[in-house]
Amino acid sequence: MKKNYVIVLMLLSACAIIAIACSKGSDDPPADPCSGVTVAVSGTPTNPSTPGGTNGSINATASGGTGLTYSLNNGTFQSSGNFTGLAAGNYTVTARTSAGCTGTQTFTLTSPTPSCSGVNIIVTATATPGGACSSSTTGSINASATGSTGITYSIDGASYQATGTFSNLAAGSYTVTAKDVNGCTGTTTVNIAAPVAGPLFSAVRTLIVNNCQSCHNNSIANGGMNWQVECNIITNKDRIKARAVDNNPSSMPPSGALAQADKDKITAWLNAGGRYSD
Ligand code: HEC
Repeated sequence: MKKNYVIVLMLLSACAIIAIACSKGSDDPPADPCSGVTVAVSGTPTNPSTPGGTNGSINATASGGTGLTYSLNNGTFQSSGNFTGLAAGNYTVTARTSAGCTGTQTFTLTSPTPSCSGVNIIVTATATPGGACSSSTTGSINASATGSTGITYSIDGASYQATGTFSNLAAGSYTVTAKDVNGCTGTTTVNIAAPVAGPLFSAVRTLIVNNCQSCHNNSIANGGMNWQVECNIITNKDRIKARAVDNNPSSMPPSGALAQADKDKITAWLNAGGRYSD
């Protein structure tokens, strides 16, 4: 009994496969009307007449079929192959026959190189020094330019930006370049002054170099303190006083308290304001 069922099933599925195969044969697509057809597009590009101008054009024609229409960059098809009002750039013209066969051609339009003769871009810049110590990087520059339009600004050759404001700068000399819409440039040099160390700070810095820096420097920063970086002396002045003047909770240097004259220098600097300039 079981065997018979299997044979019947196999016969049924074989018939199904044949049926599908046969019905497929009757659905064959019609022959491709474009096979062997070549639609060739050619044309004359005319570049924009001015730098950045939009009066360029492409006059395209095609062969290889009838009822030809034309499209620019996959836009709407039109009966004329003449496209006007174009800026510099790459363009693809597609031509299509009434049978729907297509061909394409790419055209490149370029603007004339702008002339900078007679363009005089004047850049002025003011510098604001940064924070209260020599290694501060909070200085800024504010630049503006006259003499042309579409100005963007760059500092020391970095990428151009829309505003003339540059911040987070260390003390030093900078070149600001202003560039107009045509790439014509003007430059100026501006200096962010380094803050000047005052006499009280300088005295403290010297005593720290002599008494503390051997254990607090770029390679060994005991207690997280590196006195080789001047800003750290200012930031941590209260800890310096606690350890080196008040011996609280224990004296720094650990081997023995500072001489009274050195303690007095730290106190005098803090009393004056504890700034880099004091
Ligand atoms: C012989 C090495 C040595 C010398 C010299 C030394 N220190 Fe220290 N310092 C340490 C060590 C070790 C620590 C971490 C242990 C501690 O805090 O006591 C430390 C930690 C510190 C701290 C951070 C802890 C806190 O209390 O805030 C400060 C501030 C400090 N020292 C200031 C100084 C000053 C100022 C001098 C010089 C007047 C000095 N040290 C000289 C070894 C030294």
